[in-house]
Amino acid sequence: MPNKELLLVPGPTPVVDEIYEALSRETMSHTDLRFAEIFSEALSITKKMFNTDGEVFVIAGSGTLSMEMALVNTVAPGEKILIVSHGYFGDRFIGVCNALGIQAEALAAEWGKQVSPALIEEKLQEGGYKAVTVTHVDTSTGVMANLDELVPVVKKYGALFILDGVCASAGLEEDMNKEYGGKDYKIDVVLTASQKAIGVPPGLAIVAFGPKALEARRKMKKVASYYADILNWSHIMKEPFKYFATHPINMIYGYAEAMKIIEAEGFAARYRRHTAIGKSIRAALRIFGMTFLAKEEVSAPTLSCILYPQGVDDTEFRSSLAKKGLIVAGALGPLTGKGFRLGHMGNTTTEQFSNAIRVIGETLREQGLNVDSEQAVKVFQQVFADHN
Ligand SMILES: Cc1ncc(COP(=O)(O)O)c(C=O)c1O
Repeated sequence: MPNKELLLVPGPTPVVDEIYEALSRETMSHTDLRFAEIFSEALSITKKMFNTDGEVFVIAGSGTLSMEMALVNTVAPGEKILIVSHGYFGDRFIGVCNALGIQAEALAAEWGKQVSPALIEEKLQEGGYKAVTVTHVDTSTGVMANLDELVPVVKKYGALFILDGVCASAGLEEDMNKEYGGKDYKIDVVLTASQKAIGVPPGLAIVAFGPKALEARRKMKKVASYYADILNWSHIMKEPFKYFATHPINMIYGYAEAMKIIEAEGFAARYRRHTAIGKSIRAALRIFGMTFLAKEEVSAPTLSCILYPQGVDDTEFRSSLAKKGLIVAGALGPLTGKGFRLGHMGNTTTEQFSNAIRVIGETLREQGLNVDSEQAVKVFQQVFADHN
């Protein structure tokens, strides 16, 4: 089933034929041993991707469920958490905490910027924070968090490091066994979803718990959720033919295929490709006079929040792209109407981006701008080759 449109929103991302084919395979029973084998292999690649000695959970749901799952299993009602927010999705943790009765304090950066590690340290010095949430890439702003700076600060104060990888996992390294500047200074939880750099349609909540996060759950007698309690899923993920709740069988077929594609590409090669795509797409769009909300040093490999040059009408621009088969997303919050967001992650190709650049150039010319698409494509290809 070839895609008719080029879906370059920041998730869902284009689904490749192998994954569509897997999704449409005949549905088996959720207790079938053949299904369990497919699921177990997918879980084992997921563990490798996050390089964790802990446990991974893949259940029906979206990224918001995985955010909730990460918190409900590690932080009890009444306990304190620090939220490091680089935009709309960082802020979403406040809502999750409110629903769960967790005391949330948030440090929010101006949109397009990062929260300074010094501010985080100042806050953690107050003491009593059980965990800190960090959004690896905030999909509203295109800002990437700097794990090299943030993990050591958080771990120095003994808090759990909870990473929202919804717009990052499989596009940026999230290595839960990596020590960030100190013994056992590691990421404790990565939560994510299927529809972005993993390249599967929306529908799966994916969460990896490291040993310290698992210990935190074991120390809590009960948690305020039945479906999201990892203790209800732990034995199921080891023996997926067992029943707790019915698995989303066809989504797991698709996910298993995606994990094979990711492993075959190689984790490091895939992260390098994403970095190169991010840099090269931004370099190309600069040729068109576009600017970016985030500075290049903090810009994500997976999506960009792009600001229009003068004279571009947002609604006309995006609907004209859509008529040509290219779908992008509007900017959010204070930036609505001033720019657009372009996803550049998952199982996408340089050919697709070269085409997207040409379509964007053509649309800008329709709006009266004098831009050179072929020059922009050339820059894209050159910068990609330099970084891949
Ligand atoms: C960084 C981030 N976190 C969480 C979410 C919530 O995920 P979902 O919409 O799948 O519930 C999103 C959604 O785009 C996201 O980009």
